[in-house]
Amino acid sequence: MDHSNYEIDEMISAKSIAARVETLAKEISAYFADTDKLIVVGLLRGSFVFIADLVRELDLPVEVDFLEASSYGNTTESSREVRILKDLRGEIEGRDILVVEDIVDTGHTLDHVLHLLQSRKPKRLMTCALLDKPSRRETGVKADWTGFEIEDKFVVGYGIDYAQRNRNLPHIGAVRFTS
Ligand code: PRP
Repeated sequence: MDHSNYEIDEMISAKSIAARVETLAKEISAYFADTDKLIVVGLLRGSFVFIADLVRELDLPVEVDFLEASSYGNTTESSREVRILKDLRGEIEGRDILVVEDIVDTGHTLDHVLHLLQSRKPKRLMTCALLDKPSRRETGVKADWTGFEIEDKFVVGYGIDYAQRNRNLPHIGAVRFTS
């Protein structure tokens, strides 16, 4: 099938996302209320919009860092190889860390990143994902805070792409292929 033609149906409005981000930020701020300085780690590229909105709602001193991971499926699908394309700039030993992900699908990316960061001995390592597709999970990973649980639909917008397009949509949309 040629997937060149598609429409995007709005699934989660920009207003709903903003309201949820505000709630998540309140919970995260309360959890880390005693931190010296939280390091918020965005997983590139999909989390760049979410992290920008989230950090502006956090009532905490924060540092921002980024990590880029790439996941390659192999023939068995369930044993993905995750590679780090861009590592953190800073040290995290003894620090409070919040990893921010746009979507947890199979969970391989987050699982790999959490194991890597845990090996660097942070004080607390917590995770926040905007979207979660639990029906697709192939690992035991679960974010500590989740924005929205969604069904298994191909989604775009608010940082998430389809073939590198549509990351700049202000809402989350579901892709519907028309040819
Ligand atoms: C997407 C998404 C998550 C990951 C989730 O990233 O941003 O990082 O896949 O999938 P998983 O739970 O099955 O591992 P992608 O590799 O498409 O890169 P991008 O963030 O640069 O768009």
